[in-house]
Amino acid sequence: MSLLEVDNLSILIRGGRNLVEGVSITVNAGEIVGIAGESGSGKTVTAMTSLGFLPAGATSTGEVRVNGVDVLSMTPKQLQSVRGTEVAMVFQDPMTSLHPMLNIGTQLTEHLRVHKGLGRKAAWARAAELLEMVRIPDPTSALTAFPHRFSGGMRQRIAIAMALACDPKLLIADEITTALDVTVQAGILDLLDRLRKETGMAVVFITHDLAVMNVIADRLYVMYGGRLAESGSIGEVLNSTRHPYTRALIEALPEGAALGKALVPIPGEPSTPDRRPSGCAFNPRCTFAVESCRTDVPELRELEPGHFAACAVDPFGSLPEGAIPLDISLAPRKDQHVAS
Ligand SMILES: Nc1ncnc2c1ncn2[C@@H]1O[C@H](COP(=O)(O)OP(=O)(O)OP(=O)(O)O)[C@@H](O)[C@H]1O
Ligand code: SF4
Ligand SMILES: [Mg+2]
Repeated sequence: MSLLEVDNLSILIRGGRNLVEGVSITVNAGEIVGIAGESGSGKTVTAMTSLGFLPAGATSTGEVRVNGVDVLSMTPKQLQSVRGTEVAMVFQDPMTSLHPMLNIGTQLTEHLRVHKGLGRKAAWARAAELLEMVRIPDPTSALTAFPHRFSGGMRQRIAIAMALACDPKLLIADEITTALDVTVQAGILDLLDRLRKETGMAVVFITHDLAVMNVIADRLYVMYGGRLAESGSIGEVLNSTRHPYTRALIEALPEGAALGKALVPIPGEPSTPDRRPSGCAFNPRCTFAVESCRTDVPELRELEPGHFAACAVDPFGSLPEGAIPLDISLAPRKDQHVAS
């Protein structure tokens, strides 16, 4: 049984617009699963629904199971026990999780006392352990400090410690490295990788940045216009890409330009729920579109074992003669670090 199973999820808001449509995602213990896509593709809405948070006024169809239990049919009380203990979430801005007027120790211990039932002394000791775990120097004195004393990267580590307080089986990390500089970003990616190895925790890692995804994720789901465009192992999706949108994202990477490859921005605007073209939502921006792309929504098909893409044309099914396959092995992956 998977830890998280999002099964054919659609989220409908007033006015009959779909925020996401027919999305299925699975996450197993110890895995780092990426969700990528441009702004507005539905990454956060999908993740928030995994915690039972539907946008106000929205309705859903499909199922979201955490450890086999459907969170969409849970009572508010049941949901509260799932959040934090089974699933926890960290956001781009660590101050979303941290209170600026309370010291770190008060915030961490309150969490531990409420959710874990620890006494004051035990909660304080566990809080210091958590800070140690996320590599905050001098945890004991850090507990008495306020969030503003720490750099952005350190605050993000503390927000992760807060999320880890109740030993969640699944951590959802939504753009948590986006605002950080490259070195600090690398430290946070290392931290997540270490934590999943040490604790067996699974991570859903959300970012629009495929170069970062390449470093951290085992499997990847690419979303466009509220639907899945492509999914599979990170190697297959990035190096044997089958969907024109994924390929367009790769060609738009600045890291490619730094290596002398042409940087090709994706033309046009991303699809939003109130500007959703009929047929394949990517069709106005797709250089491979044919007439039927304007009317027919392409099905997500399994093209190779475990590798899915939703494109009726499948232009990279077999590379045209002379075409060079894309290779975005821009940074060594974590498992390669370990092997070398
Ligand atoms: N409560 C809501 N009511 C109406 N539209 C919403 C609501 N919540 C989100 N949306 C819209 O749904 C779409 C998907 O939003 P979501 O936040 O999941 O995007 P995202 O992929 O996380 O984008 P970003 O990279 O900018 O964070 C967006 O167009 C957003 O404006
Ligand atoms: S279905 Fe058509 S428009 Fe959509 S990605 Fe494939 S070729 Fe492009
Ligand atoms: Mg988002």
